Amino acid sequence: MANKITRPLGTEDVTPKQIYKWYTVERLARETAESFGFHEVRIPTFENTNLFLRSVGETTDVVQKEMYTVKAKETEFTLRPEGTAGTIRSMLQNGMLNDALPQKVYYILSCFRHERPQAGRLREFHQFGIEMAGSQGPTSDAEIIALAKTILDNAGLKNIALHINSIGCPTCRAEYHKALRAYFTPRKDELCDTCLTRLEKNPMRLLDCKSPICAEIGKDAPLILDYLCDDCKAHFEKLQEYLRAMDIDFMINPKIVRGLDYYTKTVFEFITTDIGAQGTVCGGGRYDGLIEQMGGKPTPAMGFAMGLERLILTMESQGCDFEQPKTCDLYIAPMDEAAVPKAMQLGQTLRVSGYQVEYDLMERGLKAQMKYANKIGAAFVMVLGENELNTGKAKLKNMQTGEQTEIALDETFEEKFDDIAVQFMFHDIVEDFEKECQL
Ligand code: HAM
Repeated sequence: MANKITRPLGTEDVTPKQIYKWYTVERLARETAESFGFHEVRIPTFENTNLFLRSVGETTDVVQKEMYTVKAKETEFTLRPEGTAGTIRSMLQNGMLNDALPQKVYYILSCFRHERPQAGRLREFHQFGIEMAGSQGPTSDAEIIALAKTILDNAGLKNIALHINSIGCPTCRAEYHKALRAYFTPRKDELCDTCLTRLEKNPMRLLDCKSPICAEIGKDAPLILDYLCDDCKAHFEKLQEYLRAMDIDFMINPKIVRGLDYYTKTVFEFITTDIGAQGTVCGGGRYDGLIEQMGGKPTPAMGFAMGLERLILTMESQGCDFEQPKTCDLYIAPMDEAAVPKAMQLGQTLRVSGYQVEYDLMERGLKAQMKYANKIGAAFVMVLGENELNTGKAKLKNMQTGEQTEIALDETFEEKFDDIAVQFMFHDIVEDFEKECQL
């Protein structure tokens, strides 16, 4: 026998058993974003490599080590490692920034990063993200954080800490970079090779290094909050005031610098300790320089992205509710081949009305069919044989109560089934209610 081919390392299958968890988070995120006036955008899975070099930044781990780049017919493309760059490119290319501002969009997409796989860290993962372009005041920072928080609340999550920081604007960052260079240069011989380049080109990236030696050296590095200019400081203070006004708990964490280069001023992360080392469920921030850097008019912007695998893992670990798949309303069991066309015809009538109907596709005997109907949790079963075809009537069996009701197999079938099904659903609701009252 040939060896089985397995999926690539760092990728996951979503089986029909798990898909409802995805429907749950996707629906929650979509509905919440729409309630804040955001609308969906869909962008290509791959883009010109230069897009990511220019936006995510050449000194980031994502660009230096993690991009999946392919050359196809002499042109180089990269599978998107995140959604912001492509979304902003799309806003510019489609003239969206000439429309009413702010432009508010959301996306659900797969991302690709060649990282070392572990729980909550994949090579193909999925993000729900939002981007808002055109507004520069701290009201929009608070709005965006509130949106992320509402999704997490609606998912039923508890104990996810919001960490916020400000990483300033190019003016205050220039001073901060000087201070970082002064701090790290005396110990530059101990830094990893990547950090040596960072020291030269983008010293703030040093604070994000995963090497334990660099992290230890950076422990007492100067903090950006001590270098903010008046404008950035006022912006950050106003944001805190707005978050308090909305009753959103937060902590200021000057170590949050984010792994992508485009950020300015506010950055934030929602972090949980429930799913191990990869506990950042959501990350984002303001990026006031990116749109201009990508060839647009200077336009402030901000956004975030949530890792959907991490969101689902956290919901699982906290026992949150997920949607359940719809089960079979009616299983029709033809006793012989002659009954098959009638089973098909009746099944189709009900499916058009939205019922889930199945009949035998395996040429099984009646006993095996009943076993299957039980396994799929069919609410009703109807056997069709010679007798039923001749009399034009059959018995509809309620699989929960064992009750049987006669039903005509003519044009009244759908209406009668409707009546019985509604009674059945109503019976369930009454039973649940009675159970709750007894508790
Ligand atoms: P990011 O922090 O790189 O930001 O990713 C956002 C989220 O995606 C993370 O907080 C995490 O939940 C998830 N994530 C990242 N890498 C992985 C991975 N390898 N496996 C599983 N989940 C992962 C961005 O991507 C920015 N574009 C966010 C943003 C939007 N900023 C402004 N607008």
